[in-house]
Amino acid sequence: MTAIKGILLAGGTGSRLYPLTSVITKQMLPVYDKPLLYYPLATLMLAGIRDILIITTPEEQPSYQRLLGDGGQFGISLSYATQPSPNGIAEALLIGRSFLAGARVMLILGDNIFFGHGLQPVLHAAREKTHGATIFGYWVSDPERFGVVDLDADGNPTAITEKPDNPRSHYAVTGLYSYDHRASELAAELTPSARGELEITDLNCRYLERGELSVHRLQRGFAWLDAGTPDALLDAANYVATLERRQGLKIGCVEEIAWRAGWIDDHDLERLSAPIRDVDYGRYLLKLLDE
Ligand code: TTP
Repeated sequence: MTAIKGILLAGGTGSRLYPLTSVITKQMLPVYDKPLLYYPLATLMLAGIRDILIITTPEEQPSYQRLLGDGGQFGISLSYATQPSPNGIAEALLIGRSFLAGARVMLILGDNIFFGHGLQPVLHAAREKTHGATIFGYWVSDPERFGVVDLDADGNPTAITEKPDNPRSHYAVTGLYSYDHRASELAAELTPSARGELEITDLNCRYLERGELSVHRLQRGFAWLDAGTPDALLDAANYVATLERRQGLKIGCVEEIAWRAGWIDDHDLERLSAPIRDVDYGRYLLKLLDE
């Protein structure tokens, strides 16, 4: 089986969150008890991906490196690259071309939060697919705000349209994409759209035209949140807080995911908890060891 790697795209300007994002990048903002970035990172880790490239703006790269280092503390490998200006999501596959070196890739946007029972098997099914691409559709009430995928009666995609005036489906395309080894090659053939971006929708359409695009519809009960506006950020924080307080289990806790996957051992988890043992997050990690 060809290797699969992860790309976490965390550049952008976050302009809809100004002045929150005037000096802090969106993906570093808190979503309840951890930085936003932890959630998409956790999603890639839940997919079993341990080799991940984090793409940021050049100015922000040092703070990401300070927060996450080389990933060794989580038993993963983190590399860093920069996107000087937000030229589109598909550009991540060009920036990451040498990192991928022909591997398959799961790409996730730095402000997307996925949560729900059965997420891990869904992610694993996508990563096992060695040919073609998988995108994840999510039923939304306001599809005209998103890239929308039309499906035929068998659930196969027939078209993807960016922010359609009259959407023919309620399925928004979420910010998680799984591609085979041709992703960078196909992305290199794209030309910028009218808004000057290399559009991920155009790349998805390339796979669609070849009959090589699958859509996994995330079921009712799944949460897909992005934190792109003040309201969305607050909703995400409230959602995480509600579930975490009710269950006493954390969402997007990368240390826990690494430990449960066996990528770090009890001793490593204890070491990670030590500097924060007097705060809730640290106590939570230590309590895992009593299980
Ligand atoms: P967006 O929300 O489309 O853009 P943004 O984060 O710059 O915010 P705003 O629209 O308020 O200015 O981006 C979604 C995610 O993708 C976000 O995590 C940033 C990332 N992104 C990049 O890193 N580079 C890009 O070129 C684009 C388009 C997005």
